[in-house]
Amino acid sequence: MKARFAVIPAAGKGTRFLPVTKAVPKELLPIIDVPALQLVMDEAIAGGAEHIVLVSSQAKPGIEAYVRPDAEIVQRVRASGREDLADRLARIGSDVQVSVVYQDEPRGLGHAVGCARSVVADEPFAVLLPDEVMGDARLITQLSQSVHDTGVSAVGLMRVPRDQVSAYGVITPREGDSGPGPFGIIDVVEKPREQDAPSNLIIIGRYVLTPDVFDHLDALVPSANGELQLTDALREQAMLSPLTGIMNKSARYDTGTPQGWLTAVIDIALQRGDVGPALEVWLRERLS
Ligand code: G1P
Repeated sequence: MKARFAVIPAAGKGTRFLPVTKAVPKELLPIIDVPALQLVMDEAIAGGAEHIVLVSSQAKPGIEAYVRPDAEIVQRVRASGREDLADRLARIGSDVQVSVVYQDEPRGLGHAVGCARSVVADEPFAVLLPDEVMGDARLITQLSQSVHDTGVSAVGLMRVPRDQVSAYGVITPREGDSGPGPFGIIDVVEKPREQDAPSNLIIIGRYVLTPDVFDHLDALVPSANGELQLTDALREQAMLSPLTGIMNKSARYDTGTPQGWLTAVIDIALQRGDVGPALEVWLRERLS
């Protein structure tokens, strides 16, 4: 059983990636020749999504342009004999239903997810943060299955050194749940100070949520930084019934920073048959 809807919040201003994000949405930065957004959409589709909801901003028309089917370019590439590429281009935006909704003010991740309510309505749905690129769709598939089996929201987890917890949502596992998981989650807190963090288990950008989260999102008050936090709505859910946390076992790249993006590009390139072997030869020479 799969979540049919996948929400991808892509309205952020990308300030960590200036100056390039002055003109190019960070979700469209290339991982070799494919936008990060496409890799995240592919993961959502592999995880069972039939309908992707992109939460974008009117200031980022490139996002819509990318997912809009474009028969002219498909025809042109096909005429030049590049059939495989033409097929790939033909699939963009037609292999899955895509809706674009707008979040025109940066009011936080909770607000962004709430913007998808009118499309998702009343069934469990996936949330994939496009700053994170995964090696495969295992985690999102497991989260979907878990929500189907248990009826409570499920989130992806990772352990980090304690001095990094303050950048993330951090969970309180149920007493006795020490891993490898799944974990019962009885509380979550957004970006705690290291000394206040309940654990070193952080929420990564993959969620499958039950639709009651929308009511919690509607009732949220802004956190200290003025944003509506998804984590605060998850906390309300966890208070009613423990959530499920599943440890990620796949490769995960944080493409939201220049360093993380560069690592992703090199690592994914090394795995690709077309560019990997030559890159490896060059890297070995360069570093010797
Ligand atoms: C968001 C969430 C946070 C989560 C993180 C995962 O934070 O608010 O709970 O741990 O994504 O990447 P952001 O990275 O937007 O600050």
